[in-house]
Amino acid sequence: MSVDVLLGLQWGDEGKGKIVDVLTNDYDIIARFQGGPNAGHTLEFDGIKHVLHTIPSGIFRENAINIVGNGVVIDPIIFKKEIDALNKMNIDLVSKLLISKKAHLILPTHKILDASSEKAKGKSKIGSTLKGIGPTYMDKTGRNGLRVGDISSADFKDSYDKLVEKHSRLLNNDFMDFNLSELEKKWFEGIETLKTFQHIDSEHYLFQAQKNGKKILAEGAQGTLLDIDFGSYPFVTSSNTISAGACTGLGIAPNKINDVFGIFKAYCTRVGSGPFPTELFDEVGEFIGKVGNEFGATTGRKRRCGWIDLPALKYAIAINGVTKLMMMKADVLSNLKSIKVCTHYEYNGELIDYLPFDASEDTITPVFKEIPAWTEDLTGLSSLSDAPKALHNYIDFLENELETPIVIVSVGPDRTQTLNR
Ligand code: GDP
Ligand code: IMO
Ligand code: MG
Repeated sequence: MSVDVLLGLQWGDEGKGKIVDVLTNDYDIIARFQGGPNAGHTLEFDGIKHVLHTIPSGIFRENAINIVGNGVVIDPIIFKKEIDALNKMNIDLVSKLLISKKAHLILPTHKILDASSEKAKGKSKIGSTLKGIGPTYMDKTGRNGLRVGDISSADFKDSYDKLVEKHSRLLNNDFMDFNLSELEKKWFEGIETLKTFQHIDSEHYLFQAQKNGKKILAEGAQGTLLDIDFGSYPFVTSSNTISAGACTGLGIAPNKINDVFGIFKAYCTRVGSGPFPTELFDEVGEFIGKVGNEFGATTGRKRRCGWIDLPALKYAIAINGVTKLMMMKADVLSNLKSIKVCTHYEYNGELIDYLPFDASEDTITPVFKEIPAWTEDLTGLSSLSDAPKALHNYIDFLENELETPIVIVSVGPDRTQTLNR
């Protein structure tokens, strides 16, 4: 078996990009399986900080092939911007980046529909990144979408016009503050950029790669609690962010998956609306947000911060079949008086350790265990053997509760600030 899956166990932004980049040396192929430019995956190395939205996080490593899978949705405008930025770094993109013919395209009108839907929801808005993700997946499941493989067909422009016409009807021809013709101009420029890349039947490519013993890493976007089926619905994204999404989003058979790496922060964050049982509204939350620089990599929005939530993590581990855990941002918790861990929820007068259907601030009260913190700065550590005892205790406690080994502890955003266990 040669396919491993890496994904987020919380509400996204766990540090997936950093870890994919760290692990890429061990893989021949890195493949994104879902989501789109709602994702922002940050990589830092050699003094460079780079945020990727559509392109897999293996793109900076010499020998890795990067695939944008069929489960991904692509905005040609954002794709072109990403390519232009990477071109400045002298990366041989055309040979290293392959795109599934079955990946769906985000049209300018999908973004307008997204904005219109959020506006109509008013106070109960999802807090979408407004990248057109929801409307594009709706057209995919509604069997109206345009795919990368359609770009080369003679009637592509006609199909485009037809879909825009449908969207215009849905919008009652109200394009809000968007300048559609300007967006369309940029969009078709992006299509020209997309045309310069190899469009492949990525499932066949990956079958062959598996036959040839290639090592494949499937890179998830968002996080388990944003999954369309298992997340905090309706405050979720529109794709399956869980390990099963790697099967449908790449054409990988379930029995070919070996390791599932679950990435989580040593605390918890969420950007956008929706329940967040362990959210902090005090100076501790402010401290974590400040030290952790918790601002969205895609939208720049302030991320909500809170304590780690074990019932939610246990749920995520079970749904994904996580075999190895990776804990990120341990450095951010230095200098707190103590660390709190949510071990259970109080729900209908009972103590539970699972996520109920109607989990929200109104229905569940988190029950915390207090754990001693540490004052040492972790960012310069080169080995866990030099780490403070209190950090070891925190890791051991989590590992014991989660019944899954924590194999990596991250102590800073740089590639090198990664400690193996
Ligand atoms: P992703 O979407 O899961 O790839 O995560 P993001 O890139 O959106 O957000 C993670 C943020 O934390 C980025 O700014 C990273 O550079 C940063 N980061 C990753 N790991 C660590 C860590 O161990 N410590 C600190 N302080 N920052 C980290
Ligand atoms: P990465 O891959 C964090 C959130 C949005 C919103 C909800 C729906 O960087 O971890 P959408 O744009 O999909 O309609 O938004 O999901 N969201 C993310 N939050 N990280 C992400 O991606 C996210 N992608 C979407 O904030 O609450
Ligand atoms: Mg992110």
